[in-house]
Amino acid sequence: MNERIEQILNEVRGFKADSKEALENFRITYLSKKGIIPALFADFKTIAPELRKEMGMKLNELKNAVQEKVEEQLQLFESQQVDTFDFDMSMPANEMHGARHPLSIVRRDINSIFEHLGFTIAEGPEIEDDYHVFSALNFPPDHPARDMQDTFFISKDPSENKPSDILLRTHTSSVQVRAMESRKMPIRIIAPGRVFRNEAISARAHCIFHQIEGLYIDKNVSFVDLKQTLYHFVQEFFGEGTKVRFRPSYFPFTETSAEMDISCNICGGEGCNICKHTGWVEILGCGMCDPNILISSGIDPEIYTGFAFGMGIERIAMLKYQINDLRLFFENDLRFLEQFELA
Ligand code: PHE
Repeated sequence: MNERIEQILNEVRGFKADSKEALENFRITYLSKKGIIPALFADFKTIAPELRKEMGMKLNELKNAVQEKVEEQLQLFESQQVDTFDFDMSMPANEMHGARHPLSIVRRDINSIFEHLGFTIAEGPEIEDDYHVFSALNFPPDHPARDMQDTFFISKDPSENKPSDILLRTHTSSVQVRAMESRKMPIRIIAPGRVFRNEAISARAHCIFHQIEGLYIDKNVSFVDLKQTLYHFVQEFFGEGTKVRFRPSYFPFTETSAEMDISCNICGGEGCNICKHTGWVEILGCGMCDPNILISSGIDPEIYTGFAFGMGIERIAMLKYQINDLRLFFENDLRFLEQFELA
């Protein structure tokens, strides 16, 4: 028996586990109820009494050796695991995943074209008051023009059933009003931002969308400047040779007012589904600032004139990328988003 124990002791001392599972198997082989060591202790009862003392010591030595081995190897695994958390600073970074949202790309590109013309970016609050969204822009109370933009009102006390003065802005023209109130002449700004209208969600409309509006007020600003600025924008954004045309329109805050169409960039003016076979698509509203809105912001219309324009970013993006459903912009479907340029 002595020899056998010596042999096992040697095996145990030389053991090296190459995985946690191997270590656990080792532990089970020796220490579990049916393992080698309990079996040796059982044999111990059968040996001659004069040998028991020596054998007992040997057996205990073996048991301790196995337990120490298990402890030692376990600690080794744990220290190795900590090692794997060490950072290798020289390792190359993971590849960038993700793309810019198409609305961000279009907004960035439009902003950049106007910034090159000397426009600066202005921002304002999304929760606005009636004055900055409507009254200051020549929408008198109860005037039917207010119905052009279905508005979300925010009531301070919902139990009070009276119209609220606070609302979600329906256009970023409110930022133009704030600019006229606070900036010195001349004013040359664009106002990109999120706007809200109480409209049913469909392939062509959403209750949340984005606009970029522009405002230029100075001495001697004329309709020619408006046309030339927008013509330049269209050539830069949609490509040289894109034609523009202006149709008379109505907005309470501009006089003269117009809507601008561009020759359909899909069919090149031949006629297709996108342009409803007219060869033209509407992209923005514009006009000369109505003298009334200059007056209400303290600007003398005898000295200064100005123009304003406004466009929907979704609409421009749909034309640029030939997207036929506006809801795609808001659904965050990766199959859609991954098609756009990397950040
Ligand atoms: N604010 C208008 C809209 O949201 C667009 C517009 C801006 C029209 C400036 C003319 C001048 O529909």
